[in-house]
Amino acid sequence: MRILGIESSCDETAAAVVEDGSRILSSVVASQISTHARYGGVVPELASREHLRSIVPVVRLALEQSATRMEDLGAIAVTQGPGLVGSLLVGITYAKALALVRGFPLIAVNHIEGHIHAVVSQNPVELPALALVVSGGHTHLYEVRENFVYRLLGKTRDDAAGEAFDKVAKLLGFSYPGGPVIDMLSPYGDPHGVPFTLAKMKGNTLDFSFSGLKTAVLRWYEARDMANEIAARRALHLKPTLEEWLVVTPQETLDVLASFQYTVISELLRRAQKSAEEIYARSLIISGGVACNTGLRLAAEKAKLPYPVFFPSAGLSTDNAAMIAAAAFPKLARGEFADMTLRAQANLQLA
Ligand code: KG4
Ligand code: ZN
Repeated sequence: MRILGIESSCDETAAAVVEDGSRILSSVVASQISTHARYGGVVPELASREHLRSIVPVVRLALEQSATRMEDLGAIAVTQGPGLVGSLLVGITYAKALALVRGFPLIAVNHIEGHIHAVVSQNPVELPALALVVSGGHTHLYEVRENFVYRLLGKTRDDAAGEAFDKVAKLLGFSYPGGPVIDMLSPYGDPHGVPFTLAKMKGNTLDFSFSGLKTAVLRWYEARDMANEIAARRALHLKPTLEEWLVVTPQETLDVLASFQYTVISELLRRAQKSAEEIYARSLIISGGVACNTGLRLAAEKAKLPYPVFFPSAGLSTDNAAMIAAAAFPKLARGEFADMTLRAQANLQLA
C-alpha cells in the first residue's frame, strides 16, 4: 500500500511516497530558506506563493523517484495543521483535487503527529513512549500510548526552542535559520562561559519557558558594543561555512552561543526525563527540527537514561512529507478518512 504524503505547513513544500507506513520510496523537499533568509524569518505571503510554485513539480518528482504511477497509490495524506494557514491551504487544496479527480481516499494528518511518526515508523519504539517534539513552532511533551493515543504533558508557555535559537541568532547577526548555525559554532565556545539560569515553572512543572533565557541573551548583548562584529557577520554571503563564521565571531560570542545552547538542552532534557519517569515510559522520542542538534543528541546519549532514546534520521528531522505519509498509515487501517470539507487549521492540537 503506497501513500502519497503532502506537507506545506511552513516553509518547505514536500511530497513523499511511503509504502506500508515505513518504507520511504521517495521524499522530496523544496526548501524556501533562501527566499526567507534575507528577512530573518518566514514571511507568510511569500511562503504561500512559493508553495504554489513548487507543489506540482515536487509531487511529480516524488512519484517519479519512487517509480510510482498515480494509479498505484492507495491514498493521499496531507498536513491539516498546525502551521501557516495560507501555506497549509496550498497542500490541502492540491490533495483534495487529486483525491476528488482520481477517487483516492484522503487522510488528514496533524503535523506534530507527523514528527512523532518520523521516529516511530523507522525504529522499534516501545509504548508507552514519551515524545518531545521540538521545532520552530513547538516544544511539547506527549505521552504516546497504544493505537497512537496522545496525552499532552507539558508545552512551552512562550517561545518554542527552535524559535529561541532563531531569535538569538538573529539578534547576534547570524543567518536564518539560527539553529544549525548555533549548533555548528557551539563546540568552539565554553558552555559555562555565561552562566544562564534554568527556568522555574509555577503550576505545571513540565511546561517550558524560553523567554527568560532570550532576555538574558539580550541583556548580555546590550552590555557590549557589538556593532562591528555583527556588521561583519551580516556582510557574509547567504550560507557561510564554519571557517567564515569563526573569522567574524570573537571568543566571547562563541561562549554565549555555547552557553545558550547548553541551557536549552538542559531545559529540554530535564523535563523530558521527568515526564518519561511520570508515565513509566519505555522509550523516549525526540523529534522536530531541533532534534538535528548535535549537542542535544550527545547530551541525550551521555545521560544514560534507563530507556532507549530515538531521534529521527537526518532527512526526517526537519519538515518533510514522508513523516506525513507514515502517520497516515495507521489512520488508513482504522478507516479515518477526511472528505472535501477538510479545512486548514492553523492551531490544530494533537491532544
Ligand atoms: O521541524 P522544523 O523544520 O519546522 C517546524 O515545524 O518548525 O524545525 C525548524 C526549526 C528552526 O527553528 C531551526 O532553527 C531548528 O528547527 N533547527 C535546529 C537545528 N536544525 C534546525 N535547532 C538547533 N540545532 C539544529 N541543528
Ligand atoms: Zn515541523
